[in-house]
Amino acid sequence: MTIIMNIGPSREKSNAMTTIPSVLVTGASTGIGAAYAERFARRGHDLVLVARDMARMEALAARLRQQNGVAIDIIQADLTKADELATVEARLRDDVRIGILVNNAGTAIGGSFIEQSTDDVARLVALNTTALLRLASAIAPRLAKAGDGAIVNMGSVVGLAPEFGMTVYGATKAFVLFLSQGLSLELAPKGVYVQAVLPATTRTEIWDHVGADINALSNVMEVGDLVDAALVGFDRREPVTIPPLPDAGQWDALQAARQAMLPNYRNELPAERYRTVA
Ligand SMILES: NC(=O)c1ccc[n+]([C@@H]2O[C@H](COP(=O)([O-])OP(=O)(O)OC[C@H]3O[C@@H](n4cnc5c(N)ncnc54)[C@H](OP(=O)(O)O)[C@@H]3O)[C@@H](O)[C@H]2O)c1
Repeated sequence: MTIIMNIGPSREKSNAMTTIPSVLVTGASTGIGAAYAERFARRGHDLVLVARDMARMEALAARLRQQNGVAIDIIQADLTKADELATVEARLRDDVRIGILVNNAGTAIGGSFIEQSTDDVARLVALNTTALLRLASAIAPRLAKAGDGAIVNMGSVVGLAPEFGMTVYGATKAFVLFLSQGLSLELAPKGVYVQAVLPATTRTEIWDHVGADINALSNVMEVGDLVDAALVGFDRREPVTIPPLPDAGQWDALQAARQAMLPNYRNELPAERYRTVA
C-alpha cells in the first residue's frame, strides 16, 4: 500500500529548476537518509521523503517543517515491491520541482554467502541495485533535458573490498559505484551532476540488521559527520566522495591504475601466457 501525504505549506514554484529544487530522499526515515533530509531542509530545499516507516517520516517532516519552513511530502513505499517503486518512479518523472535525487535506501544482511537464503540475497539486490537503478533511470532523462540537477547514489567502501566478507552487499555497492561513474561520464556533459558516496562504518541501525553491535566496533563515524562530509564533496561536484579516506591521492592512484589498463584490453590474440601450442 502506498500512501502519499502532504505536510507543510505548498509554495508557488513556476520554474523550480531555476530556483531551489526539491530533493527526493529514499531511506529517509532514519540513519543517513534522515540526516540528508535534515541538511537539505536546512539549506531551504523542499523535500520528498521515501521509506516504509510512515510514523518516523511524519515525525521527521513535522520537525523539519517547523525548523526550516520547507514543504515536505511523504511517500510510503517498499522499494522492493514493483508497484510501490513505480509510484516513486512516476513522481521523479513527472514532478519538475524535483531536481535532486538522493538514492540512499539500502540494507545489509548478516552471515556468509552459504548461510544467506536465496530469497534474502535477491531482496538485498532488489533494494540496493534495482530500485536505485530504476529511480535514477526515471529522473535522468528529465534532468538531462533541463540541463540541470543531481543524482546522489549511496555506495560503500565495502564495494571496493571483497576482503571485508560482505560479498553480496559489497557486490551491490560495486554496482552502485560503477553505475555512478558511468552515469557521471554520460550526464556531466549534459549538466547533470552524479555523485557516488562511499561511507565506511557509520553509526546507524543498519548494523542491527546484520546482527552486529555497533558499540563493539571501532572507528565508527557519526552520521552527521558522514553526511556533512558527503555534502562538501557534493558542493565541489566530486564524482566520488569517500569521507573516511584520509589520502585522496590513494583513490586517484587507483583510478589511474585502472585507466592505464584500458588501452591494453583490445587485442586480436590472447595474451602470451594463454597461448597454446598448436
Ligand atoms: N551505516 C553504515 O555503516 C553504512 C556504510 C556504508 C554504506 N551505507 C549505506 O547507506 C545507506 C543508508 O543506510 P543507513 O546506514 O542509514 O541504514 P539504516 O539506518 O538501516 O536506514 C536505511 C533506510 O532505508 C530504508 N529502507 C530499508 N529497506 C527499505 C525498503 N525495502 N523500501 C524502502 N526503504 C527502505 C529504511 O527505512 P524503512 O525501514 O522505514 O523502510 C531507512 O530509512 C544504505 O544504502 C547503506 O548501504 C551505510
